[in-house]
Amino acid sequence: MRSSEALLTGKSLLDKIRADFIGLDTPYENVQGEKTRRIYLDSTASSLMFRPAAKITTKFLAHYSNTHSKLHHSANISTTVYDWAHARILSFVGADPEIYTCFFTGAGTTSGINRMARVFRDIKPDKNTAIISIMEHHSNDLPHRKHMQRVIHVPVEGLDENRMCISLPRLEEALRKGAGKINYVSITAVSNVTGIINPIHDIARLAHKYGALIMIDGAQSVAHLPTQMFFPDDPDACIDALVFSGHKTYTPGSPGVVIARKDHLSSIEPEEVGGGMVDRVLEDRYLVKDSFPDREEAGTPNIPGAIALATTIEILDRIGMQTLLEEEDKVLERSLEEMAALPELIVYGGTDHDVCPRAASISFNICGIDHGLVAAILNDHFNIAVRNQCFCAHPYVKEMMAEDLEKDFGTIELGNMSAEFMRKSGMVRASFGLYSTLEDVEFLISALKEIISNIDDYSKDYSVNGDNDYIHKSYRPEHHSIFNVVGAIDDYLS
Ligand SMILES: Cc1ncc(COP(=O)(O)O)c(C=O)c1O
Repeated sequence: MRSSEALLTGKSLLDKIRADFIGLDTPYENVQGEKTRRIYLDSTASSLMFRPAAKITTKFLAHYSNTHSKLHHSANISTTVYDWAHARILSFVGADPEIYTCFFTGAGTTSGINRMARVFRDIKPDKNTAIISIMEHHSNDLPHRKHMQRVIHVPVEGLDENRMCISLPRLEEALRKGAGKINYVSITAVSNVTGIINPIHDIARLAHKYGALIMIDGAQSVAHLPTQMFFPDDPDACIDALVFSGHKTYTPGSPGVVIARKDHLSSIEPEEVGGGMVDRVLEDRYLVKDSFPDREEAGTPNIPGAIALATTIEILDRIGMQTLLEEEDKVLERSLEEMAALPELIVYGGTDHDVCPRAASISFNICGIDHGLVAAILNDHFNIAVRNQCFCAHPYVKEMMAEDLEKDFGTIELGNMSAEFMRKSGMVRASFGLYSTLEDVEFLISALKEIISNIDDYSKDYSVNGDNDYIHKSYRPEHHSIFNVVGAIDDYLS
């Protein structure tokens, strides 16, 4: 091991590891038959795998064993390293380990939000209402609809017309009107559609003022912004629970993470029961452990995934999230500037980054061209991976597109959405990670200009298939021959 004095931190470390991601240079053949490097602009769905995390986890696998014991060498190493992973994450999100615990659950944010919705419901059963916003991902909407009796959607208005973040006055109005019944407020820190950042600590203060708890969906924020859950001198600004996904934090294959106050969790029996979370089991009763996170992690956890995620987080922390934010801002600002200069483009949300701060995501449409066609051309001709449609955030996307859609289609009911309507109702999303560069942005912008100038030439080669997707008439990449597991096994064994 090297002495810590010799180790890089901050921007120097970022420069060293920025390109150290698996899949940054994956080549695919485009329509013209040329093999080019994939430009990955789909990090909001899942970010690429940080190579050091994969390598260090592979090293750990030589010592792999189940946890919950320190008796043999490997069990001791596994248990110690797995404990370290929890502590590492707590410190990363500014959560005092005396007050908070961190536990892993499921593969992403969704299971953590479901879990905490049930926990909050059960610790205050007399309060039956949750408040969320219109800009939530379905994973921070449907769990509350299912587990709570009532959910109020606060609209997006914001401090300024262009901000499109949650409206604090409307939130306060909902809290005031529902006084006594509002159990918790659950809000995304960053929208997965527009990347717009919500003022989560102001929201926490409002929730606490009216006796409600506050849960933050950190799926889109934890990898991009500094996170601080606990403020010893400002208890109202503290976050009661934060949930995020390892696969959006540069560690595909890692679990979802919940960080929550221990006093809330210990006031009820853990949501999930089984091995590892009990001290004693008799035929007619069992004694749940007092200790965290054990009581919240029934069963054998995803130990390698947790270690990989904590490794990523250790390195992100050495760079510093403020440094990362400033670097990622350069990519977002350039993208917004260039997109705003294209009159054919509709960018959703304000394009002045100072007025409307964003992280990671920008959604847009080219006037008169279906989102699916733009995404297909970007992939097939330019090897640019973007995502399109509604990004599991139908109410928010609908809100932003309502005027245009109603002009063309009139009032839309859930049951009567035509195929044409579906092709129009959606957006294209370009999303970035710490590996995204200004060159990636330039490449995207020049591709968009090409599409705008030559749309007739491009579109004549496409038709819509039975799934309502745009498909090139002759370009049929053989994905099975690019990668399949059995072929990879054969290669390995030969
Ligand atoms: C804001 C937000 N919340 C929740 C989720 C759900 O995350 P997961 O699919 O990891 O459960 C996503 C996924 O895109 C998201 O963007």
